[in-house]
Amino acid sequence: MKAIKIIGVILGIICILVLVAGIYVKTALPNPGPPPELTIEKTPQRVERGKYLANHVTVCMDCHSSRDWRYYSGPMAPGNQAGGGEKFSREMGFPGIFFAPNITPYRLKTWSDGEIFRAVTGGVNKDGKALFPLMASHRFGKMDREDVYSIIAYIRTLDPIKNDVPERELDFPVNFIVNTMPQPPAFSTMPAESDRVRYGAYLINAAGCVDCHSQVENGSVIKGTEFGGGMEFKQPGGTVRTANISPDRETGIGKWSEAMFLSRFDTYSSDKFVKREVAPDELNTPMPWTMYAGMKKSDLQAIYAYLQSVKPISNRVERMEKTQ
Ligand code: HEC
Ligand code: HEC
Repeated sequence: MKAIKIIGVILGIICILVLVAGIYVKTALPNPGPPPELTIEKTPQRVERGKYLANHVTVCMDCHSSRDWRYYSGPMAPGNQAGGGEKFSREMGFPGIFFAPNITPYRLKTWSDGEIFRAVTGGVNKDGKALFPLMASHRFGKMDREDVYSIIAYIRTLDPIKNDVPERELDFPVNFIVNTMPQPPAFSTMPAESDRVRYGAYLINAAGCVDCHSQVENGSVIKGTEFGGGMEFKQPGGTVRTANISPDRETGIGKWSEAMFLSRFDTYSSDKFVKREVAPDELNTPMPWTMYAGMKKSDLQAIYAYLQSVKPISNRVERMEKTQ
């Protein structure tokens, strides 16, 4: 009897603790602090740099605009530049339904520069509510502040697009856990371009290659699988997997010359890319080739140099596997 009573009391205490923890996580977190006091001057240099980064490196425009998946590699669909609405659903493996918000002045005109800065680098919205880390604010928070200022200067100049995006739906328990996810930024200083490997590492962090080119579990990269590929995208016709871009000589890109690497992107550059409809029995690639292909040659060279310096991972990946 006594033992049962003690177990009862312990269970009671555990229940109370879980409840208190739940209330804490739901109401007291996240705790990002006030947005920084900022006025970002929109100099032509910043707008230009921001345009480059947002379209070709951090690819903000990829998620916050629409891509036309009728064509191979899903090039940008005209007409909805940064107007949002792209849906990320449960069928795609997300814990709920998410929509990329509109980031044109139509929505952001009431946000201060500091609020946008805090959202992009700290993962909370205007009201301080946690954003789901589908957008990698933890990576953007490792960039050079100046680059983030440039991106904000640029998105402030976009044409307002009148498009109201639905609210997200979060499944249990992620509706609780999401509040523990925002991370405080840890800004860096952009390395000199001549320091090729470190500069490449800076770009690759901003570009998010690792988020796709690794194996992931519950939305996080599994340690030790970085750049080894294998992340799966299910499509009606089969499965597409990310390539091994680590320098393993047999299964990765260890034998690729720099020229081969550059030409793989060059096919998708704006002057060479030819829109081609995806055949009914063909798989499409989620890799935002047409956006990254707009990167400066020297930036892609730095990315190549960095990739050749990471740990080789032996992992043979079948990139496109059709279901018969
Ligand atoms: C992988 C896709 C993706 C990329 C890349 C991305 N975002 Fe986002 N962003 C999202 C999603 C999805 C949300 C909403 C998350 C949520 O509702 O929890 C979001 C939220 C935001 C918000 C908050 C808006 C609001 O109304 O709450 C801003 C501002 C923003 N992103 C700007 C940017 C900028 C600037 C970049 C580039 C530096 C960028 N995003 C890159 C997907 C992305
Ligand atoms: C949205 C997910 C995603 C992101 C982000 C992404 N990739 Fe990919 N990538 C893929 C997929 C899927 C494939 C395999 C299909 C294909 O070849 O297009 C691929 C293929 C490649 C290939 C071709 C490898 C081969 O064997 O032919 C290279 C090179 C590559 N990616 C490099 C990069 C680099 C560099 C970055 C960052 C600048 C990057 N990827 C970002 C999804 C992604």
